[in-house]
Amino acid sequence: MHNEQPLLAVNNLTHLYAPGKGFEQVSFDLYPGEVLGIVGESGSGKTTLLKSLSARLIPQQGTIHYQGNDLYQQDESARRRLLRTEWGVVHQHALDGLRPQVTAGGNIGERLMAIGQRHYGEIRATAAHWLQEVEIAANRIDDLPTTFSGGMQQRLQIARNLVTQPKLVFMDEPTGGLDVSVQARLLDLLRTLVRELNLAVVIVTHDLGVARLLAHRLLVMKQGRVVENGLTDRVLDDPHHPYTQLLVSSVLN
Ligand SMILES: Nc1ncnc2c1ncn2[C@@H]1O[C@H](COP(=O)(O)OP(=O)(O)O)[C@@H](O)[C@H]1O
Ligand SMILES: [Mg+2]
Repeated sequence: MHNEQPLLAVNNLTHLYAPGKGFEQVSFDLYPGEVLGIVGESGSGKTTLLKSLSARLIPQQGTIHYQGNDLYQQDESARRRLLRTEWGVVHQHALDGLRPQVTAGGNIGERLMAIGQRHYGEIRATAAHWLQEVEIAANRIDDLPTTFSGGMQQRLQIARNLVTQPKLVFMDEPTGGLDVSVQARLLDLLRTLVRELNLAVVIVTHDLGVARLLAHRLLVMKQGRVVENGLTDRVLDDPHHPYTQLLVSSVLN
């Protein structure tokens, strides 16, 4: 189906803090423009897996190839460069992904500086544009993110991560901890941006509604192992594994 090489090729990836704590033997390919959802209940290893995928936790076993290059055979500076340039990481708690002592405009602008932009006027104009993209009023550009609501902080984090037009974005429960109505608006926004920018995304969530809305394909994790994977509609409408059936029915009932 795909002629191009995968953006991310993950093979037999394992990292266990203790038996059953972490993830084991995870393999998948991710292609440009594709959204992969990783679902499973709390403690199933989703965050640990996402950390390894996004070069923040060296896995004990297995390989990750990004654009054909073995991620963990490169030196650390190469991985840090990817995180600054071609990748984005959206944390569940927005302040973990923002610099609280830097203004909203600065939070966006410093990502542009990290990819080599130096023109102050252009950086500020792009930051203002991105605030608008994520529905933050332009007159908040010089305010600190700590003065923002939780929903606004999360939208700012998204702007900060997308402004460099990354090829690949990792998201860990990006709508977790927000009010339902704030969550719905944020999901709408994410869906639009992912499509408009043709982003490849790995999104971790325990919320099957979020997975249904955003992901093309799903991996279902149970105690660190992938028990089922496939197209989102197939997995959610016709789950094969008993655990997936349980997950789906516990949401629907
Ligand atoms: N740094 C760590 N050291 C030891 N155990 C950890 C660490 N991080 C997570 N764990 C454990 O690994 C398991 C998986 O955690 P996590 O990946 O955060 O799951 P999820 O994101 O699916 O809720 C849990 O049992 C958790 O307590
Ligand atoms: Mg988690």
